[in-house]
Amino acid sequence: MKNPSSGGIPRHIAVIMDGNGRWAAARALPRTAGHGMGVRSVKQIVESCAQRGIEALTLFAFSSENWQRPREEVSMLMNRFLEALDEEVEGLHRNGLKIRFIGNLSQLSAALRERMEAAMRLTADNTGMTLVIAVAYGGRWDIATAARELARRAAAGEIRSDAIDESAVAAHLQLAQLPDPDLLIRTGGEQRISNFLLWNLAYTELYFCDTLWPDFGVKDLDLAIEFFSRRQRRFGLTPGQAGAR
Ligand code: IPE
Ligand code: IPE
Ligand code: MG
Repeated sequence: MKNPSSGGIPRHIAVIMDGNGRWAAARALPRTAGHGMGVRSVKQIVESCAQRGIEALTLFAFSSENWQRPREEVSMLMNRFLEALDEEVEGLHRNGLKIRFIGNLSQLSAALRERMEAAMRLTADNTGMTLVIAVAYGGRWDIATAARELARRAAAGEIRSDAIDESAVAAHLQLAQLPDPDLLIRTGGEQRISNFLLWNLAYTELYFCDTLWPDFGVKDLDLAIEFFSRRQRRFGLTPGQAGAR
């Protein structure tokens, strides 16, 4: 799974699932109700992506900055993650999905970490779609962590510092085993990256839509995939060069 997808169907889709709070506010519900409904969208999108032959789906569930939200909202989200893991892992495993969690997992509770590790172990040998869930994840943290590990290895004499190149950095990032996302979807109307996969999104096609995450369904997913299929990915080449590839 090395070459990026050009046109057609994306191999790897990344999603910034935004708009849960506004979905709830529009209905005079607490923000947490929006997160509850967001889980429903997650299930639908995971299933649809697997059906469409997407090889990897990376979902941004909780950012390193989201720790600064009100304590009740953070703890509700963490509880909802726990519940969702308990409810969904068996089914995902039966369907052959491989589950991975990325982010600063050491910041999570031991109970949550254990469930995550168990889910990763259980599904490690599956050959279906890889589902990556980014929790307590920040793109800058990811790059800094890779830099620290490379520095440690250089100091230990395992690698030469002048051999540290782009591929060495990439190999130490959280998504090291996967190709970069072909398509990024951000729901909820904002057009920003919010410290998601800063390195890996270098050449990703960006799709922004106003739909709030709890309202995002299969039709919206297909619109995003269709948008992707119309893009010519040039990777710095001229249109003529890229078309001939
Ligand atoms: C995305 O929805 C979910 C998380 C960040 C955890 P938000 O909670 O950011 O919803 P809005 O952006 O406030 O509507
Ligand atoms: C990005 O959404 C993080 C996740 C979807 C998990 P935010 O709602 O935190 O982003 P900002 O703060 O509006 O940029
Ligand atoms: Mg938001």
